[in-house]
Amino acid sequence: MNEGILWTLLGEGLRQDAQEDFIVAANEIAQEALSGVQLADIVPIAFLSHVFQCEGREWTHKGIAFMGRIRGRDTDQKLRSVKRTRAQLVDIDTPLGSVTPLQNAKVLGVAQECLASKERGRIPFHDNEISRNELYRNRYQFHDTVVKPVMRAASEYVCEQSLGDVAKVIDEAIREVSPHSIIDVACGENGLCNALAERGDIPIVVGNDVAWSQIELIRKTRSLPHPASSLLYTNHDATDLPFADKTFSVAICKNVLHHMASAEAVRELIGECIRIAHRAIIIEVADPVAEHLGSRIMRHYYIDFLRDGAVKFYSRRELEEFTDKDELRERFLMSTVQGVYQFAVFDS
Ligand SMILES: C[S@@+](CC[C@H](N)C(=O)[O-])C[C@H]1O[C@@H](n2cnc3c(N)ncnc32)[C@H](O)[C@@H]1O
Repeated sequence: MNEGILWTLLGEGLRQDAQEDFIVAANEIAQEALSGVQLADIVPIAFLSHVFQCEGREWTHKGIAFMGRIRGRDTDQKLRSVKRTRAQLVDIDTPLGSVTPLQNAKVLGVAQECLASKERGRIPFHDNEISRNELYRNRYQFHDTVVKPVMRAASEYVCEQSLGDVAKVIDEAIREVSPHSIIDVACGENGLCNALAERGDIPIVVGNDVAWSQIELIRKTRSLPHPASSLLYTNHDATDLPFADKTFSVAICKNVLHHMASAEAVRELIGECIRIAHRAIIIEVADPVAEHLGSRIMRHYYIDFLRDGAVKFYSRRELEEFTDKDELRERFLMSTVQGVYQFAVFDS
């Protein structure tokens, strides 16, 4: 650690005062090295160690190799049009025997292995969602600072259960298992993961979202570094998470099913939450059109104003079918000003 720099990176440093992490830095380095290129799904893939001699002494530089997806259309074209680059570009399919030492055959090999199971060249469905979120980022900021507090206050009087009751139920479902680690698999601009980390009694808290722009909104509001808790943000597709089985004590997935491209993707998402955590908590709003007037109004607000990337809302019945699983521990409904929520808690 040196003058507030936690790690020195190629052309960058992880600044402690700005609470930067590797994903932020990797994005900045990519923008700098390959101007105009945006990354997503950044994930560490290898530890590196470079041992060399200098002034009669042996030195070791330690490093972390990251992999990221270049976002959007025409990625080959974008790479070709890069004017200035400090990066050692190498095609992912290059045979390992023919790369230069600087391009590092070992890292390329690990990247090839990581990519082997992924469909390549296909624009992921959620890229549209990410772009929408970026475009309407200011509206989300207005939503957080103005609309949310009003809704929270109004919710005390309007419906059977207030938004405070919902927060309490979520908190109880989390605390019941005395978690060591927790992940919000699509945290959006909702500060739940910040709040959990700030309490300091859960050692590892992860906020994940496929759209880094959403995370940027909450990253700036966290009051960390907190001595007792470690808060990380990650940027992956929640239907295909790069975490080993049962990595987390708890996984939360709130208001995300209606963003999935298909019923198959909903099943994958729920399956991933159950796979990576001992307890999975799924909270989903039932199709507002079939529920009370308030939820129909909220639907218009979310879709027409906030431009929420909703694809399909599911009825109570359909949600029940999705959550009919061996691991289901309990399931219940809560009626709030925002709509009727189905809660499903899975233990495995
Ligand atoms: C309606 S918001 C819910 C945010 C937060 N969980 C809440 O309750 O306020 C849905 C979020 O899901 C994210 N999302 C959509 N598809 C995703 C995917 N495949 N993987 C991870 N996040 C995704 C969106 O970027 C968005 O932030």
